[in-house]
Amino acid sequence: MSHPRSVKIIGTGFYVPERIMTNDDFTRLVDTSDEWIVTRTGIRQRRVAAENEATSDLAVAAAREALKDAGREPADVDLVIISTITPDHIFPATAAIVQHKLGIPKCGGFDLEAACSGFVCGLAMARGAIMAGIVRSALVIGAEKLSAITNYKDRGSCILFGDGAGAALLEGSDEPDTGVIYNTLGIDGVGGHLMIVPAGGTAQPVTHQNLDEAANKMVIQGREVYRFAVDKMQELVRDAMAQCHLTVDDVAMVVPHQVNTRIIDSAVGRLGFPAEKIFVNIDKYGNTSAASVPIALAEARRQGCIRDGQTAILVAFGGGLSWASAVVKF
Ligand code: UT7
Repeated sequence: MSHPRSVKIIGTGFYVPERIMTNDDFTRLVDTSDEWIVTRTGIRQRRVAAENEATSDLAVAAAREALKDAGREPADVDLVIISTITPDHIFPATAAIVQHKLGIPKCGGFDLEAACSGFVCGLAMARGAIMAGIVRSALVIGAEKLSAITNYKDRGSCILFGDGAGAALLEGSDEPDTGVIYNTLGIDGVGGHLMIVPAGGTAQPVTHQNLDEAANKMVIQGREVYRFAVDKMQELVRDAMAQCHLTVDDVAMVVPHQVNTRIIDSAVGRLGFPAEKIFVNIDKYGNTSAASVPIALAEARRQGCIRDGQTAILVAFGGGLSWASAVVKF
């Protein structure tokens, strides 16, 4: 197989479940208010998957949109990478379930777990595999059913999260200096306890007792994550611009992990980006972890905020702690 000169994103798509959960709905579950949630997070509503809707169903719907946008068929996909912290099962990989449901006749695939950074990490892996000539195309999907691991008794975390999926189809190209032109990845387990589902793995199996304590649900130290998030988001955007010799004028849109409007504004705003160059849709979907950046990217493309020929910076960070960035010329 020949080696391409670049790797382009040729299609994007997203899917969110039908059911909307508003901030007012949370006032019936915990001691909170619409005013607190909006001013502290920017979130007005989020989507919640149906009981019989699995992460793979969200992923398949987003993937179909990305294939349609690219004008490609399932048979054109050589590799499926699913980024998720809410797989259908511990195993088999959700990528295998998605391959089967999409009807891709022959491809490779695996799940990638890097929490909220997962999709942007997936872009780096797909770019590497295509540049190395291992595959010609890759479908990278971030998909989450976070409602399955949300503790709806914890007001400090439950109001933040939503369900959804976003996808991008990547292909090799002979055109130089286009497509995904830059990636960076990072991980540091020192902050692993800040965002965690304590039970359900091998370190702490699920027991009747810890189930009663909701140890199989997400626990986050929001205040500590806040500081890390502002610093990391700013560092990722600044480094990506420096490495690619970009000024604010060269960038059509920064597509950040949809973590909190205050975090996004203070991090990216401080770098001199005007509000119209920072894509924000957390008000509609909340924080969807690995699905957050690809949903935002697909929506930004659909709304014409990032046109062909323009450049976007994608940045994400989250549990691990983990982080990743990408610069993409469309
Ligand atoms: O993608 C990565 C995962 N995301 C995160 O980890 C989120 C990052 N962190 C954040 O977005 C923010 O830290 C939060 C939105 C989670 C919290 O905002 P904050 O401004 O950092 O609030 P805080 O944690 O400092 O809490 C302030 C007050 C506390 O009350 P006291 O101690 O001052 O009396 C909380 O108990 O707000 C209280 N509080 C709430 N009040 C109403 C916490 N959650 C709620 C709530 N409604 N839902």
